[in-house]
Amino acid sequence: MMLSDSMNKALNGQIANELFASMTYRQMAFEFDVMGLKVFAAKFQSQADEEHDHAMRIAKYILDSGGNVELSALDKPQSGYKSAQAMVEAALASEIKVSKQIYGLMDQAESEKDHSTRSFLKWFIDEQVEEVSTMSDLLQLVKMAGESNLVLVEQRLHELMKTETPAE
Ligand SMILES: [Fe+2]
Ligand SMILES: [Fe+2]
Repeated sequence: MMLSDSMNKALNGQIANELFASMTYRQMAFEFDVMGLKVFAAKFQSQADEEHDHAMRIAKYILDSGGNVELSALDKPQSGYKSAQAMVEAALASEIKVSKQIYGLMDQAESEKDHSTRSFLKWFIDEQVEEVSTMSDLLQLVKMAGESNLVLVEQRLHELMKTETPAE
């Protein structure tokens, strides 16, 4: 089934949202690097890659469905974070925001009775549960350790990254 113009447009909007999330993580990764937190930096670079993959996944779906992909201008990502905790808090807020964006797309697909887009979006809904959970776990660790003990959190993060299943 062909995508409706309005669903196509909404999915193009989500490509921009995912690319913005990617750029936001990229900026955070560079700032973690400057703080000397190299494992955090690596984790956030890999998050940035994942968000980029999400954008590509949506683009492929649009093309497979006979639609058109149109990129848009992105806002400048936030920069100059005051602390590692402030960055992880902003990352969690960003994931929560993306979850809401995905729910909005799902609402639209449901109201249009667009079953293929609903099925496609299910992966994103599940993925967002993971992403919000990962970031809120990390925030909990960062708060528990405090800014001066983040090197200890890095050891834990390093272990977790080794056991992580690679992104689909
Ligand atoms: Fe994403
Ligand atoms: Fe994400």
